[in-house]
Amino acid sequence: MSVEEHYDLKREYNRNERALSKTFHLNSYNNWVKAFVFNMYAKSGDKILDLCCGKGGDLLKWKNLNVAKIVGFDLSGVSIEQANDRARKLKIKNAEFYKSDLSCEKIHLSEKFDIVSVQFALHYFFKNEFCITNIFETIKSNIKTGGYIICSFPDYEIVSKHKSFKNSICSYNFLNENEYFFTLNDAINCSEYVIKRCSLNALLKQHELELVFEKNFKDFYEERNKSNLFDKMKVSINDAKDMDDYWEVINFYKMCVFKSL
Ligand SMILES: C[S@@+](CC[C@H](N)C(=O)[O-])C[C@H]1O[C@@H](n2cnc3c(N)ncnc32)[C@H](O)[C@@H]1O
Repeated sequence: MSVEEHYDLKREYNRNERALSKTFHLNSYNNWVKAFVFNMYAKSGDKILDLCCGKGGDLLKWKNLNVAKIVGFDLSGVSIEQANDRARKLKIKNAEFYKSDLSCEKIHLSEKFDIVSVQFALHYFFKNEFCITNIFETIKSNIKTGGYIICSFPDYEIVSKHKSFKNSICSYNFLNENEYFFTLNDAINCSEYVIKRCSLNALLKQHELELVFEKNFKDFYEERNKSNLFDKMKVSINDAKDMDDYWEVINFYKMCVFKSL
């Protein structure tokens, strides 16, 4: 199944169903990490470009930061409809979402953005040079000089420790050096591609981007008392059964921020 079919077929769960889902506590923690980093780099009045925006799950985080505009793109037409719906329900006027396969289409908008956000998606583009070039050119051509690119993706140093892995929430199997098949309970079931540090460094240099922040998702936990966001967002990770399994999965991801020079 292609990534597009996979995300198109995912239906929207209601609040009660989400609470019963195995990934509920994981999403709650991941959402807090994203909000924490958005708070570090975005400011009131900023324009946000959300690439691979999914169902617009980050809309409320941006609304709370009082940003001026949100434009999002995603491969899944179903997710784009849900994102537009969510923006209407949240009464966010300056939010627009469009369907696009960013691995083969370069987007060049007429205005530049303060923040480009690519959450849990950059790794899909590391399938080949063509896809990598397209996403990096889209990022670079739409970000202001001095703007920030906030990205979360699998931490290669951690994921590559196992050729195959399985716990009660997630499993993966490396198919070759660059590709692994990844399953995350009721959320993900498709091939993903590794982002090695050397290739990332070369891309940053080529596109005049500077790595200004890097942290494994697990290491954010020690920051939980630095703002009231952890309590405010009712992060439920400590309520999870199979707690160790959750922390194993959390540890697979890292957050990076690049500055456009
Ligand atoms: C794990 S979801 C993350 C969604 C959202 N960013 C979030 O944090 O909730 C990955 C998203 O990347 C999108 N995606 C994957 N490949 C893509 C591509 N080539 N072009 C645009 N979107 C893509 C998928 O459709 C999916 O919505």
